[in-house]
Amino acid sequence: MTVEAQLPLRYVTPPAWAAVALARPLELLNDHAHLEKKAATNALELLNRWPEPRAPENWVTAMTAVARDEVEHLATVSRLLARRGGRLTRQHANPYASELHKLVRKGRGKEELIDRLMISALIEARSCERFKLLGEAVKDDAELRKLYRGLWASEHGHYRTFIQLAEQILPQEVVSARWDQMLDAEATLIARQAPGPRMHGGT
Ligand SMILES: [Fe+2]
Ligand SMILES: [Fe+2]
Repeated sequence: MTVEAQLPLRYVTPPAWAAVALARPLELLNDHAHLEKKAATNALELLNRWPEPRAPENWVTAMTAVARDEVEHLATVSRLLARRGGRLTRQHANPYASELHKLVRKGRGKEELIDRLMISALIEARSCERFKLLGEAVKDDAELRKLYRGLWASEHGHYRTFIQLAEQILPQEVVSARWDQMLDAEATLIARQAPGPRMHGGT
C-alpha cells in the first residue's frame, strides 16, 4: 500500500508546493514549530473534554501520549530553527486551522467532541502528506530529510488515534457520515490557502 493510499485526504497537494515552502526555510521551520506547540496544547485541551459520564479507558493515555510527542517535536524543530540562525516568533497565525475550527458544532456534547477529534485528525493527516513532500524535496539536506521522514510516522499514528477515539464515542455510521463531510470541507479549505512558507499553505 502506498503512503497516499493510507491517507483519506481529498485534495492532493502538488509536489511543487514543497519547493515554494522550502524557499524560505527558516520561516517554514518557525511555522512548523508553532504547529507542534498548538498540537501539544490541543491534546492537553482535549484531555479533560472526555465524553460524559466518564472517559473511555484509553482517553487520558492517548492524549498524554500525543501531547508528549508534540512537545518533543517542538523541541526538535525549535532547536533546528535556532541552530540555523532563526528565531521562534511570539505570534503565529494559522488560517487553515482557524477555518477548520469553525466547523465545530459547539454546545452539542458528543457531536462537538467528535468534530474536535476529526479536526485534529485532519490536521495530522494533512501534515503527514506535507512532510512526505518536504522529505522528498530536500535531497541536499540530510538533517531536514530525516526530520520530515521521522515526523511522518508519528503524525500518522496521531491521525489514527484521533479517529479511533471518535469511533468510540458515537455509532460508526454517525461518525463515518460526519467524517465524509469533514473530508470534503478540509479539501475545499486547504485548496484556497495562500501560498507561502507554511506547513498548511496553499499552492
Ligand atoms: Fe507533531
Ligand atoms: Fe501530531
